[in-house]
Amino acid sequence: MLQEPFYDPTKSYEENYDKGPYGALADGKVFAQGESKADFLGFKVYAPFGIPAGPLLNSKFCKAAFEKGFDICVYKTVRSDTFACHPFPNVLAIHPKGDLTFEELKKPLVADTTYTEPLSITNSFGVPSKQVPVWQEDVKKAVVAAGKGQVLVLSFMGTVKPNQTQQEFIDDYILAARLAHETDAPVLETNLSCPNIGNEGLVCYNLEVTEKVTKGIRDIIGSKKFILKVGYYKEDSELERLAEIANEYADSISGINTLQAEVRDITGNQALPGSPARLRSGVCGVGIRWAGLDFVRRLAKIREKRGFKFSIEGVGGVLTPTDYKAYRDAGADSVMSATGAMWNPYLAQEIKKAYPNG
Ligand SMILES: Cc1cc2nc3c(=O)[nH]c(=O)nc-3n(C[C@H](O)[C@H](O)[C@H](O)COP(=O)(O)O)c2cc1C
Repeated sequence: MLQEPFYDPTKSYEENYDKGPYGALADGKVFAQGESKADFLGFKVYAPFGIPAGPLLNSKFCKAAFEKGFDICVYKTVRSDTFACHPFPNVLAIHPKGDLTFEELKKPLVADTTYTEPLSITNSFGVPSKQVPVWQEDVKKAVVAAGKGQVLVLSFMGTVKPNQTQQEFIDDYILAARLAHETDAPVLETNLSCPNIGNEGLVCYNLEVTEKVTKGIRDIIGSKKFILKVGYYKEDSELERLAEIANEYADSISGINTLQAEVRDITGNQALPGSPARLRSGVCGVGIRWAGLDFVRRLAKIREKRGFKFSIEGVGGVLTPTDYKAYRDAGADSVMSATGAMWNPYLAQEIKKAYPNG
């Protein structure tokens, strides 16, 4: 059953940032854990399960999530400079009938404020970021909020700017990596499922830029554990090239991010206000689970075929313990839930009860 979400979609991003988290996640009750036996990138965790980049806006959210037994918490993506959030609202409900296949995603989705099961949503923030010293100090608090058997991951990305060269864009990724590395975050993640320069689609689909960014980051962060966060790949050949890049420069691949769709209100108008580009936004939750599972299965097959050693973090539509198990069976070393966790602060506890051996 859906509970009060810890990110309140009826409030602005700023209000959530200042006053959140909400609901039971924020009640201060700490889930008592047994022994941490599972592995996450060389760190001992109680269960290889957590919350991916996004819903955990700052250290208050991370602390509350750790207390509820989410052992891997990813701090929402930061940038090398301040960046404003897209206009309110930033989250709306959608109601797909079954899987959001690429055929279904060609049709406009109707969005509203009624959150129902099976839960799917659209989110559109534009990756806001506070001033660098603000997030750096706050990440340090999030790192110490992790208890025994828990790990804080910091997500970061580069920023597209007008008239920027490719090298300047890559350099901004590397600057963000250096600033992220200066915090004590034990694991870093770079968000490659975000716009590339020149309206070229997402960075992760330009594997030449992906390789340059990834190599540049590795040079700056030394041996720190490093995750590549990507979107869904339709072609196995491209997924295999990504795997080669990860094998060379990273420790892990996390996927998938949201799938894109046109989102309108019931009267047919653009549901999310602002620029016309906001007619399309990212969808997540149950409707994209098929894609996340397919991504993990295919990537695990490539990893085995090529003898690669990176780990796979499975994301997309995990709302129940059974979904978690499906990802583990597909080959995910760890599993993350954004939408499911937002509406169920007890999801980690339910998974630990259902699968005490991870
Ligand atoms: C509210 C919200 C904010 C998000 N923000 C980010 C982000 O800043 N960086 C990122 O890499 N992914 C972001 N995501 C994507 C999630 O990490 C995840 O890949 C996606 O939502 C699919 O998982 P789900 O079906 O469990 O929601 C966000 C997702 C949600 C729901």
